[in-house]
Amino acid sequence: MSKEIKTIAVLTSGGDAPGMNAAIRAVVRKAIKNGVSVKGIKRGYAGLLNEEFIDMGPSSVSDIIQRGGTILGTARCLEFKQPEVQKEGADICRKHGIDGIVVIGGDGSYRGAQALSRNGINTVGLPGTIDLDIACTDYTIGFDTAINTAMDAIDKIRDTSTSHERCSIVEVMGRNAGYIALWCGIANGAEDILLPENYDYDEQRIINNIIAGRKRGKQHHLIINAEGIGHSTSMAKRIEAATGIETRATILGYMQRGGSPTCKDRVYASIMGAKAADILCEGKTNRIVAYRNGQFVDYDIEEALSMQKDLDPYTVEVSNII
Ligand code: ADP
Ligand code: F6P
Repeated sequence: MSKEIKTIAVLTSGGDAPGMNAAIRAVVRKAIKNGVSVKGIKRGYAGLLNEEFIDMGPSSVSDIIQRGGTILGTARCLEFKQPEVQKEGADICRKHGIDGIVVIGGDGSYRGAQALSRNGINTVGLPGTIDLDIACTDYTIGFDTAINTAMDAIDKIRDTSTSHERCSIVEVMGRNAGYIALWCGIANGAEDILLPENYDYDEQRIINNIIAGRKRGKQHHLIINAEGIGHSTSMAKRIEAATGIETRATILGYMQRGGSPTCKDRVYASIMGAKAADILCEGKTNRIVAYRNGQFVDYDIEEALSMQKDLDPYTVEVSNII
């Protein structure tokens, strides 16, 4: 029989993502509507270990749905990988009367949630990352904002690249995944899209492409390079030396992780946050909320972490053709 849930907590962990605030707001308001109190935990698992809790009433989350970042702060807390530290985290929850925690983050954060669940604290994860690299879900909180931010920035780079008849390499985030690069590559009409999942390191092919484009009268050549491949600056130097065409590298960096969330990120994060609160309030544990085939669903963490996903082959094919 599941235990009675009186108080839950919410934390954000790993890299922040636009829409995390919308998710926090929904967790707080839905849990309170369900008759359950909510505490916020500052700075992810580090804040849990330091007992950094705040009481969260409905008005504590006013005026945040439109704000990027996370009002709770986030952290990477490597010591939370240790079993004795995880047990300490669960004991701290019990000391503060916390029956369950919503963990907003990526795969690493879910392993922390899994450990808390094993130690008797109910947990549910929400997919919060701009990278879209969580296998069980077609959507992650922040990806939509990040690709729109990057797309706008790349449009601007393309303008000046065309005026100067240059080649531009733009490096986008995504850790080892190429989702941001693939989406921006298509949306920005890039001539080359370099994805960690299938990059063959054949720089000569890119060089030939640039020279052929210039012969056809192209005034720019835009290459989107994924962070997982990296080395954009040295690549630009080699391409300039081989083609004789001025080549510049721009690493978009952290701007992709900030800013006001898009409508989609606000709405999806709100629905997912509310669902996470409902799951915990029902006394369930060790779950992850996901968006799959057009539906909001939830999975067991174990099952979710064992799933694999890859770039959609047809999307990659389209990106190469157009
Ligand atoms: P993400 O959650 O975005 O994948 P990280 O991999 O950096 O980001 O993980 C975020 C945090 O989750 C880590 O700093 C740590 O506190 C916790 N974490 C990561 N891996 C584990 C693990 N194997 N066991 C317990 N906690 C973990
Ligand atoms: O996971 C989000 C992300 O921005 C990745 O795209 C990137 O590789 C990483 O976080 C950077 O992390 P940090 O904030 O530790 O530099």
